[in-house]
This record gives sequence, structure tokens and C-alpha cells, in this order.
Amino acid sequence: MGRQDVERVREAIDIVDLIGGYIQLRKAGKNFKALCPFHQEKTPSFYVFPETQSFYCFGCGASGDAISFLMRIEQLDFRDALERLAERAGITLSPPRPEERAEDEQRRRLAELNRLAAAWFAHVLWGTSFGEAARSYLERRGIDRPTAERFGLGYAPDAPSALARYLSQHGAGPEELVTAGLVVRRDDGSLVDRFRNRLIFPIRDRHGTILGFGGRTLGEAQPKYLNSPQTPLFDKGSVLYAIDLAEESIRQQRTAIVVEGYLDAITAHQFGYSNTVASLGTALTERQGRHLRRLAERILLALDADVAGRQATLRGLELLRHALAEGERAVVDPRQLIRFERTLDVELAVVVLPEGLDPDDLIRQDRTRWDEALAHAVPLVDYYLDVLLGEQPPANPRAATALLQRIAPLLLELGDLVQVDLYTRSVAARLRLPEETVRRLLASLRRQPTREPSPKTTAAAILRPLSTEQQFVGLLLRYPEAAAHLVGEIDLESITDARYRELVSLLLAGQPLDDAALAEDLRDDIGQLRQRFATQPDLPVPLARQAIREAFRRLRRERHDERLRSLLSEVRDAEERGDRDELRRALELIEALKQRFPEFYPERSPYFRDTRDPVN
Ligand code: UTP
Ligand code: MN
Repeated sequence: MGRQDVERVREAIDIVDLIGGYIQLRKAGKNFKALCPFHQEKTPSFYVFPETQSFYCFGCGASGDAISFLMRIEQLDFRDALERLAERAGITLSPPRPEERAEDEQRRRLAELNRLAAAWFAHVLWGTSFGEAARSYLERRGIDRPTAERFGLGYAPDAPSALARYLSQHGAGPEELVTAGLVVRRDDGSLVDRFRNRLIFPIRDRHGTILGFGGRTLGEAQPKYLNSPQTPLFDKGSVLYAIDLAEESIRQQRTAIVVEGYLDAITAHQFGYSNTVASLGTALTERQGRHLRRLAERILLALDADVAGRQATLRGLELLRHALAEGERAVVDPRQLIRFERTLDVELAVVVLPEGLDPDDLIRQDRTRWDEALAHAVPLVDYYLDVLLGEQPPANPRAATALLQRIAPLLLELGDLVQVDLYTRSVAARLRLPEETVRRLLASLRRQPTREPSPKTTAAAILRPLSTEQQFVGLLLRYPEAAAHLVGEIDLESITDARYRELVSLLLAGQPLDDAALAEDLRDDIGQLRQRFATQPDLPVPLARQAIREAFRRLRRERHDERLRSLLSEVRDAEERGDRDELRRALELIEALKQRFPEFYPERSPYFRDTRDPVN
């Protein structure tokens, strides 16, 4: 599949035909308009432009071409959408590149092994005497058989390599079994099943493909839940347990309930809350948030109410807000008078559970109370403020200011001025601070994007946390041999300290460092960074390179976030003053920012095509 294929498909498909098959289009001059399929609205603000073969919604900012429309409306990835359109147009796509094919083939193979393993686990559970204890465990936990079967539950017997033997008989090699995460290689080289004496929960993607497994011990073994390791198929940070069973219902209700555990999700489904998924662990990740956002307008977070759960909820909320705030904000078309979507187009709320109960407990013990908890889910900001502020007002002004520092960035995120104002008042009252103080802090935060401490102030800095830039430079110094292959990936512009920029360009060029030729303060810096990174293990080159790449990505993320934050505050200022020109300028700069950091806007690249046409 190459760029040419994409162009051929684009040319062969008429976007008006395609979209007209999903929603009713009405003629509007030379264009078409409709009620937007991606958000709720009463008057049409969704436009299709035949000339540029693109669409744009002035309400929610959804935009793109035929491929992105299909991706979004059918929840497909790029490749699947392209294939569907190719089929529709009778086009044969060129075969994938060999390495793509090899990866696909490996994933297909691993999925097949997982499928076989799951069938075997299920057979052991239901069809053998070994499954007896697990069957009675399920009964004790109140999980009925139809539900257990819908979730594909199984049992891994207490035998060292029963599964390995079974899969070998079906042609699986030992290496594959290890890669699949089903088998573990012991230090002495022998192979042993990863899951033993555990109730098995297959983890499936939205299509029902089994990506990995979770296993709950039936005995005292630790950990309580064992999960598949990271494999080419399984990435714990992006899966949503039960999404295959929940997606339809989430879409219909426009609401997703997110719980933490396998059993929370299963019980919720058994009792009819079929729009429930589990985040599998403590906090939600960015990718999980994004996925749900595409399906739902409301996301209810029902995480454990104990202390750990509370912290997880906070972390989850921060991550989720981040995920939603950054990529999913309205796309801006500077040529139009565009409403910049100020509030997030999703409602986030926290389901507050009674202390010590998880959703599984509560649904079984007191279903009415669960319903009430859902109905009275607390809006994100209120919950966040409640947890941070607590019941009592802060003990002293210093504590109040410290709290305010944590709360302020959240208030700034709100965007909507009425909301900011409302919460400013309530925060001031609860902190017993004058409103004016809160306002002044907000104003000053808006104006000065956070600066990292200058690396020049190094005298006493050795135990201070390193800036992202220093971490990046430190890794390059520690692993110079990994640096050479990174030329072209690292843009020096993202490095703000000119001395570091110089240094990095030397390292990337593979130049040995002549310390004597370096400026004195830089030499000191380098010495300290070397010292800080001296304890890092000797990584093989590919891993070191990966670490450097990741540090660089964090650096770019920081640059991007700083800049976006300050541009957003310019947008707000301009709006407050009603300065249209200034507003337009700021919006254009945001567009330019997106071009410069395409990696944080995956839906825009590389095939994204913007709509720059007048509406009529
Ligand atoms: P919990 O410890 O709250 O368990 O972990 P639970 O879901 O209530 O399970 P039961 O009711 O005791 O059987 C919540 C989730 O965190 C992950 C699992 O996804 C679990 O469902 N977890 C927990 C692990 O991955 N490993 C662990 O050791 C513990
Ligand atoms: Mn539980």
C-alpha cells in the first residue's frame, strides 16, 4: 500500500456519494450540508465540498476526506478504511511492503495462537474435571454461565506445560509461544506455561481478536492478576477490556462507563450495564480516552473509592483531559469566522462509590445505589476540586496558595469564561482567599508559559530534577554510539539552549567531544550530566536509541504544549477584547503549530486534507 494507492482511491470515490449513503445531504449552493453525524445538533453545520472532496463541521470541527470520514463513522483504522473504499471503487491495492507483510503475518499468527489457547482454556474450564475448582469459583462469584461464555472465560490448569504441549501439537514453535507471552523461558532454558491454576480472561479488541490474557489466581499465588506481557499484539496501555461487547451499546447510549477490573466489567454486563469497559489497572491512558471519545459524549469513571483508587481517578482524569484537550479540539479554519470549540465535546464525570466497594460489589449488593451513583456522577471539575480541597478549608494561607497552584491550571483548561468565572468564585470561597487573588494568579499563568530552570544555574543543581532537555542531552552523552543513526530525526530547533544545540549537533555527527574546546560552563554541565547518567546500565544500541528517541519525543511534547498553552491564552485574550484580527492571527499560529508537530495530531497526517473552501 503506497501513496499512489491512496490517491487512486481518492480519485475514484465521490465523497458526496459516500457520505450521502450515511446521512441525508441537502444542496447548499455548490456544496451540501447536513446534520453532523459526529455530534448532536439541531441545525445543520456539517458541510460536504465536492470540489475539494472534503467535509467540515462548523460545530464540532470534524473534517477530512472520504477516507477519514469512513474511518470515523465506521471506527476503522486507516488501512481498513482504504481497503473498503478500494473495494467499493473496484480498485486492487498494490501488495503491502515485505516488512509490513511480515509484521501483519506475525500478528495474525499470534492472534491465531491466542485463539487456540483461549479455546483450550475454555475447554479445560467447562469440559474437564480439572476445571471443577474454577467452575465453583465462578459460581461463588455469582457469574452465570452465559455471561462467562460471552466473555470467553477459561481455566489454566495447575500443570507446568500443558498448554505449551497442546499448542506444539498444533504446530507452534517454542519461540512463537514465548513471543505470544503464553510461555515463559526459565533461567535454565526450560519452558513453562505462563498461566497456571488461574481463571483466564481473554482480552479482545473491538473486533473480538484476542490480544492477550489476564489470569486470576484461585489460590494464594501472587500477583492476584497476572497479565500477558507486552507483545507485538498486546499493549496494555491501549486495550479496553470488554470493548467488543460494549461498543455498540456505548455508541447507542453515547455514554461509556469505565471500571477498573475484569470482574467489575463482567458483573456490569451480566446485570445489563452493557456500555461498560475496564481500564485494566489503575489509571486510564491517553489512548483509551481517545478511543472512547470517538464513541461517546459522556464518560463515567467508576473507579475504586479507596485511597489508591482515588489517586488513580485523579491520574486518570488528568490523562483523559489531556488526551481529549489536545487532539480533539475543534480544527480551526482561519479563513472562516469559526467558532473555536471552547469546551470539550465530551462530558467527563466520576461515579462516586461507597468506601471500600468496587462496582462488582456494589452492583451485587445494592443495585439501586449503583444506579443512583451513575445518575449522580459528579462532573469532572467538581470532583477534582472536591478531592483537592477536601472538606476543610486549608489550615493557613501558605497551604491555600499551594492548593491554588495545583488547581489553577485546571481552571485555565476550562476555556469557557462563564465556567472559569463560576469556578473562580467557588475556589476562592473554599480556599478563603479573595477572588482577586485567584484571578490575578490565573492571569499571570496565562501570560507566562512555564519555563524550565535554566541549565546555567548548575552550581547546586546536581540533585535537582533534570529538565527534559537535560535528560535528552544526558542520554546522548551516555550512549554516544547510539546517537549516530538519529541524524534527521532530531530537529535542533526543539532544543532551546543554544549551547546544548551545538553539543547535540556534534554528538549526532558522531564527533568525539573535545572537552577542552568547550565553553567552561558547558563543560561543567556536561560533567554533571555524565555523573548523573553514569549509573545507567550499558544498554545495547537499539535500546539506547529507543530511550533517546523517547526522551526527544517528550522534549517535543513539552515544546508543543508550552506553545499551545500560550496560544490558547492569546485566543482567550483576543476573544475577551473582541479583537477579530488578533484572534485570527492566533488561530493561524495554532494551525502552524499543528503542522510543526504532526506526531501529536495523528488524525491529520499523513493523509489529512484540510478544508479551506468558502462555505458557499
Ligand atoms: P483489584 O485488586 O481491585 O481486583 O484490581 P478486582 O478487579 O476487584 O478483582 P477481585 O474482585 O479481587 O477478583 C483491579 C484490576 O487491576 C488489575 C486487574 O485488571 C484487576 O481487575 N490488576 C490487579 C492487575 O493487573 N494485577 C494485579 O495484581 C492486581
Ligand atoms: Mn473486586
